[in-house]
Amino acid sequence: MRILVTGGAGCIGTHTIVALLENDYKVSVVDNLSNSKEAALARVREITGKPIEFHRTDLLDRKSLAAVFATAPIDAVLHLAAFKSVSESVQEPLRYYHNNLTGTLVLCEAMAEAGCRNLIFSSSATVYGNLERVPIVEGAQLSPSNPYGRSKVMIAQALRDLHAVELKWNIALLRYFNPVGAHPSGLIGEDPNGIPNNLVPCVAEVAVGRLQELSVFGNDYPTPDGTGVRDYIHVTDLSLGHLCALEKLRSDPGVVVYNLGTGRSYSVLEMIASFERVSGKKIPFRIAGRRAGDIAACYTDPSKASIELGWEARRGIDEMCADAWR
Ligand code: WQD
Repeated sequence: MRILVTGGAGCIGTHTIVALLENDYKVSVVDNLSNSKEAALARVREITGKPIEFHRTDLLDRKSLAAVFATAPIDAVLHLAAFKSVSESVQEPLRYYHNNLTGTLVLCEAMAEAGCRNLIFSSSATVYGNLERVPIVEGAQLSPSNPYGRSKVMIAQALRDLHAVELKWNIALLRYFNPVGAHPSGLIGEDPNGIPNNLVPCVAEVAVGRLQELSVFGNDYPTPDGTGVRDYIHVTDLSLGHLCALEKLRSDPGVVVYNLGTGRSYSVLEMIASFERVSGKKIPFRIAGRRAGDIAACYTDPSKASIELGWEARRGIDEMCADAWR
């Protein structure tokens, strides 16, 4: 089977392609390299020894996208390509909606024309917004608080509407919690263009001395140690969740939605302690004010994915930090 991975040169994309190739899938990639590097795909080839068909293409370019589908029959699409910075989406909403929403609509049209109706869509726990109740289950209310999260909710609604009129579509909506870590080889991992704003890449910047100290955004949250609590999931566990979702699509499930998280949660201070443990480096930090848009606690109840996909995250926090550090 051949899988087309959009955004395949990114962090989640490269890790998922490793898992696909190691499970004898053939892989094509579409990526405009706006927030990734083609060299990452070369490292995936190095890890797996297998070929990847790469197309440097923007999803908004209908002609080029149609040509990709004409190159080789595509059995399913993993749609990971999107802009994903919450703060940037607040500053540039139209750019986010155009890229994320229109890009997905053009992709779906190209898929339909090519007769491919199996889609896995990369969504995010951000769709839940600031919920009172944790752990979060898939049926929880969606209340995104930024254009990035809202773009994910709008796309999911469009996909449900598409399935309602064309029942042949099989669509898995995967809501990622906080992906961290990297492939144990150290060859691929987080490699954001520009300044990172996620916790673990910032901690790593302090550990390598590129950042003097970490700012802890608030220690007055209603959490055990006052700092933000999140459900961190190893990017390799997350990648394997995509393969289980691909299997699920073969049973013609229609539209299905799964939270991909561990169900365990860690605070900022606990993450710092874990990174210090595995790296042997001191991570100096100072308590700063809360970051706009942040919530106190966000973690999932992972039982639906466990029961329906036969998938569970297995890697713990020290392994995530050790793999990120390497
Ligand atoms: C985690 C915790 C911060 C940096 C984001 C996106 C979400 C998803 C995952 C795309 C929070 C604290 C962070 C720092 C800190 N991305 N922190 N100092 O905000 O939970 O989720 O990434 O889908 O959409 O919103 O992750 O890593 O930015 O923050 O204290 O320098 O670390 O306050 O409590 P977040 P994060």
